[in-house]
Amino acid sequence: MKKFYVTTPIYYINAAPHIGHAYTTVAADVLARFYRHRGTAVHFLTGTDEHGLKIEQAAKEAGKSPQEFADAVSEKFRQLWKHLDITFDDYIRTTEPRHEDKVQEIFAALIKSGDIYKGHYSGYYCVSDETFWTEKEAPPDHKTGKRLCPNPDCHRELSLVEEDNWFFKLSKYQERLLAHYKADPDFLSPKHRGNEILSRVKEGLQDISVSRAKVKWGVPVPNDPEHTVYVWFDALLNYVSAASGCDDIWPADVHIVGKEIYWFHAAIWPAMLMAAGLPLPLKVFAHGWWTVEGQKMSKSKGNFVDPYEITREFGVDAFRFFLLREMPFGNDGDFSIKTLKIRYNADLANDLGNLVSRVENLIDANMKGALPARSNPEKDFYPKQVASRTAEYAACMERLDFSGALGVIWSVVGQLNERVNSEAPWKLFKSKDPADHEKAKTLLFDVVWCLRIIGGWIEPFMPRKMAEMQARLGVRQYPDALSAEDVLQGKEKGIGKIQKGPPLFPRKT
Ligand code: MSP
Repeated sequence: MKKFYVTTPIYYINAAPHIGHAYTTVAADVLARFYRHRGTAVHFLTGTDEHGLKIEQAAKEAGKSPQEFADAVSEKFRQLWKHLDITFDDYIRTTEPRHEDKVQEIFAALIKSGDIYKGHYSGYYCVSDETFWTEKEAPPDHKTGKRLCPNPDCHRELSLVEEDNWFFKLSKYQERLLAHYKADPDFLSPKHRGNEILSRVKEGLQDISVSRAKVKWGVPVPNDPEHTVYVWFDALLNYVSAASGCDDIWPADVHIVGKEIYWFHAAIWPAMLMAAGLPLPLKVFAHGWWTVEGQKMSKSKGNFVDPYEITREFGVDAFRFFLLREMPFGNDGDFSIKTLKIRYNADLANDLGNLVSRVENLIDANMKGALPARSNPEKDFYPKQVASRTAEYAACMERLDFSGALGVIWSVVGQLNERVNSEAPWKLFKSKDPADHEKAKTLLFDVVWCLRIIGGWIEPFMPRKMAEMQARLGVRQYPDALSAEDVLQGKEKGIGKIQKGPPLFPRKT
């Protein structure tokens, strides 16, 4: 059985990981957990991109060899993923022999087939973006005369490159790419970002340089050791090299990437795969970018948000939740502690956390923690109605609409709060009429069951808190949460009793 294969970009190791890297990796983890929860076998790949001029220079500045430098920073990424409960199945580093060998194998095969050929390159190069630019794409600045990187988020000065190097026949694949985009409209997602790619490919494609003559820190070109493979050609192949030797992984089901590297993944990468005769990934999804308090994160501004700082204050689960709740996946958004706090207090401390505390306290005070049986187990069985929204939730998750999925969940949380407020079980328990007590018990029974189900839906986003919530609601022993389906099918592994505890999400002031 083919596994569901999800990937993140492999991150450059010139600097420590920040919230932007965490965003993509958390999203991929949420998707991986969602599929695993459903019983699908998953292969989740992340890793680090370690070659190229940018790394060579960063290592030099740090007074280390590129490999020493790569070892240290790659480890920082790994540690952060551990801290954020990222459940990757494989972690690839482009300096590993399994990857370098594959790059050389494919490069040699494409030389043989004529898709890679020797030529002369004259143009401009952005070291920070590791991107080639033509004279036309990067005209001289009218004031300074300098050529700057056309990427609006970069704008660094370009260096002139004049060298004989190897080219990939990207131009040959224009028609096939267009035909593929047409035949499979979901391949490029979301639509608005796909459309940008489509019009750029329609404009025509030029062959691209795929080796560097003067860069030492890279994979040597087979039989031409003066050249190293262009770092993007090398890096993109990680998705295949990590899957090689296993027949249940490739093609990827989804590559999740940031919008700034969509061109590489949506045009160059599929053309490379076509040239290599390999199947294409099923979907390439480009999400948007976070700014921080209205500003782009940058070295000069020194405003990189450190995930450790945020999780120290808000916890890992709330951080994971916020990233995917706050901005629709695919759009851009702004990060600030203020919005995080507002979201935390509203959604987590109030809506969900208070609801859990209320039912726990009521059951503890009035029923000594035992959840009574419903007097009529079938009549208006509210948890079934709630569970019927699983399909809606799952459809959002399948199309990577994480904020949509959380929207479905929080609309149910809202309904539960309304029911509790309007039926006021604390009053019903004080009534002398036994029917009122029955009504209160039925309400609590329903809310507990709904929360157990919701815990299954939220698990991919907040695995620790949901395991804790389900354990306290008597349905599960720490450490894993149950899926909504498991809850409804009565796969109880917990002690059945409701155990009240401290607030799940203590309010932040
Ligand atoms: N090494 C290349 C990718 C090669 S993949 C074959 C690279 N690395 S990177 O370290 O620069 O990471 C870029 C990725 O980090 C983005 O595509 C995105 O996934 C994530 N982000 C970095 N900054 C970000 C924001 N400010 N906002 C959201 N995500 C961003 O490019």
